Amino acid sequence: MTESANNLMEKVVSLCKRRGFVFPSSEIYGGIGGFWDFGPFGVELKNNIKTFWWKKIVQERDNVVGLDSTIIHNPKVWEASGHILSFTDPLRECKDCHLRFRADHLKDDKCTECGSKLTEAKQFNLMFETYVGSAKETASKAYLRPETCQGIFINFNNVVDTMQPKLPFGIAQIGKGFRNEITLGNFIFRDREFDMMELEYFVKPGEDEKQFDYWLKERMNWYLGLGFKKENLRFYEHPKKSLAHYSKRTVDIEYKYPFGWAELEGVANRTDFDLKNHAKFSGKDLRFQDEKGEKFFPYVIEPSVGVERIVLALLSESYREEKDKEGIRVVLSLNPKVAPVKVAVFPLLPNKPELVKVAKNIYEDLKTCFNVAWDDIGNIGKRYRRQDEIGTPWCLTIDFDTLKDKMVTVRDRDTMKQERIAIDKLKDFFQTNLS
Ligand code: GAP
Repeated sequence: MTESANNLMEKVVSLCKRRGFVFPSSEIYGGIGGFWDFGPFGVELKNNIKTFWWKKIVQERDNVVGLDSTIIHNPKVWEASGHILSFTDPLRECKDCHLRFRADHLKDDKCTECGSKLTEAKQFNLMFETYVGSAKETASKAYLRPETCQGIFINFNNVVDTMQPKLPFGIAQIGKGFRNEITLGNFIFRDREFDMMELEYFVKPGEDEKQFDYWLKERMNWYLGLGFKKENLRFYEHPKKSLAHYSKRTVDIEYKYPFGWAELEGVANRTDFDLKNHAKFSGKDLRFQDEKGEKFFPYVIEPSVGVERIVLALLSESYREEKDKEGIRVVLSLNPKVAPVKVAVFPLLPNKPELVKVAKNIYEDLKTCFNVAWDDIGNIGKRYRRQDEIGTPWCLTIDFDTLKDKMVTVRDRDTMKQERIAIDKLKDFFQTNLS
């Protein structure tokens, strides 16, 4: 990492802690590697990302529906999906200090900590095991899902029977995924528990390649619509030999993180691998019957992404420092759609009840539509700074003129321009800018 990239990563990490975006999980007990808690602004940001994904993938489409399946499935699911056999990474261990490494991430043949020799690589399964039942001895072993999409495949008949879709159609799901990753690092980039957003898009075999290209474009446009710069995103075509066991073709959308280009999202052509295997292992007919009465296994195109990777990419993309009269202004120039707080309301002077009363009314009214913050501490400049740092797109100041002309000063985060807007036009103004 170059010094400035290193710096950016440090600044993003520090902002996340300082302003309540991300905390190390179980921090008071020394933390637990690969697990992160999202604080007051972090959870808003994550929820807004999920809402934007759900809106574009499910609600704005006629042929995609949602699902919320369990995290723990019957363990046979993972036999059928191939995860018990193939969801592994090569692991090597230091013979002296017993530190463990992902063999394919190692540049050298020695322990990076103490320089000692490493064991030969052995395959390590990344699924977390648990037990279902009250007594461990008699309970059955189960797994925390490493991907959400298997919940979709095992509900395929339920959705088809209840919704009677025509091909192509999709089933989308957002939920927790768990992977006992061998190596971590880069803050929230690689976690052991994370939120996944996955779409399984079922298509006629033969139309899969065209649909694959369609989804690649759609997903790239989704990121551009979130405000990512084109030059910070690129496609990476996986060579045939590194494809996952279920994939005919996988293209990653990579982001230029402060530590370098890395996978943001994967788009895979899973063929009919999953439905066919679940049909075989469950003995249930999971073929789709088309209008002509023909039965076949549809192919599946799958865009899949972890929300934490988007959070890190968005924070890196939008973090800015600008010199101004008072020093350095830190700004998160987040797309207003995903900004944790949309509007902050300031009474110019908190000790003037007539100002506070009007400001409170505006605040209470806007709160019915948006996530709004109230701030009456310190001078207006300081209040702007606090909001800039968490990416709040607009700040409203209620001053003595407001009492006469029923207008407030609206200050734009990015341009810092101020304009007077009538109180009764505020909702429209924000709604237009947020749609
Ligand atoms: N169902 C397909 C699937 O799980 P994947 O490439 O293994 O494919 C999909 O994972 C996405 O999940 C990745 O592109 C990445 O965004 C996210 N992801 C995977 N492992 C992750 C981890 N350990 N921490 C955070 N996000 C992760």
